[in-house]
Amino acid sequence: MNRVPSMVFAVVVGAGLVLSGCSSSGSGGNSGGGGGGDAKAQGKIGVILPDTKSSVRWESKDRPALEEAFKAAGVPYTIQNAEGSADNMATIADGMIADGVTVLAIVNLDSDSGASIQQKAASQGVKTIDYDRLTLGGSADVYVSFDNNTVGQLQGQGLVDCLAGKPSNVVFLNGSPTDNNATLFTAGAHSVVDKTPTVKIVGEQSVPDWDNDKAVSIFEQMNTAADGRIDGVYAANDGLAGSVISILEKNGRAGQVPVTGQDATVEGLQNVLAGTQCMTVYKSAKEEAGALAKAAIALVKGESVDAPGKSRDDKGNRDVPSVLLTPKSITKTNVDVVLSDGGQSKDEVCAGQFAAMCSAAGL
Ligand code: BGC
Repeated sequence: MNRVPSMVFAVVVGAGLVLSGCSSSGSGGNSGGGGGGDAKAQGKIGVILPDTKSSVRWESKDRPALEEAFKAAGVPYTIQNAEGSADNMATIADGMIADGVTVLAIVNLDSDSGASIQQKAASQGVKTIDYDRLTLGGSADVYVSFDNNTVGQLQGQGLVDCLAGKPSNVVFLNGSPTDNNATLFTAGAHSVVDKTPTVKIVGEQSVPDWDNDKAVSIFEQMNTAADGRIDGVYAANDGLAGSVISILEKNGRAGQVPVTGQDATVEGLQNVLAGTQCMTVYKSAKEEAGALAKAAIALVKGESVDAPGKSRDDKGNRDVPSVLLTPKSITKTNVDVVLSDGGQSKDEVCAGQFAAMCSAAGL
């Protein structure tokens, strides 16, 4: 039963459509009392996702998991997507605050724009949460994410394991330079790869905005610069891995060159099963969205948030109270971890030509 008055609902949904074409809002069945006044007294949670292109995760996994968590908790919410534009994100944030959001969670597109959104929100008494990405120099009350340095370590270790001790030239294809997570992933991966004597790093580039198309040309150039002598690739997520694999395929080398990834997307898992990608990292959206909902609901109620971790923000010179979840490394041998957790459906991963590979992997 929708207890948000239809007028408020229409305004929220309407604004979302104009701004992003991608929005959802609702209120839980037991949010109680009905009228807008009640919803306001109890508070309302707004979440702004970053884009639809840097990873399929935001719309296909995070949004539904967040909706489920907020509905289960019976708290009014609105979720919108900034479609890769920091200006859009700022406008959406203003709109959400005007609509009575009392806790605002963002996945920033860069720290500076995220920090100004948070500053403005705080000046209007709105609590803020960093979801997945830490806003450096920001003022979020809490940060909810995975341990991102560990994500990088799992990627580095996965790559080293796949190279199996052979002398290897490796290149790094890092995520967006504006994403603090990308910095942490890279640092974690380097901490493993750099101390592996058989591995030589022969190139390293960042991919602006995690753009998969740019990744194709960046990797192509790296491959040319290395005279095609690349034996392994650190790719920061499954989308970038897909870009790398497309070039390796063109050169008849897919499957011979281990490539890392992250997000356990359908395509990433299929590449892992096919042997063109050596590993991915599973970060349960259900777990992360659940942790966000828990923190947001505590803030809505004016209670203290259970955030036992700390994340260093050197720019803001502070330690941000954090909930940092544990990522899992996925290779051909444990794809079932993702499927049995509901991270992806077997029907999707094992469709068509992948059915035989799934059977061979015991799925
Ligand atoms: C997230 C990754 C995602 C990437 C691109 C990072 O901040 O942690 O899961 O693949 O952004 O959207």
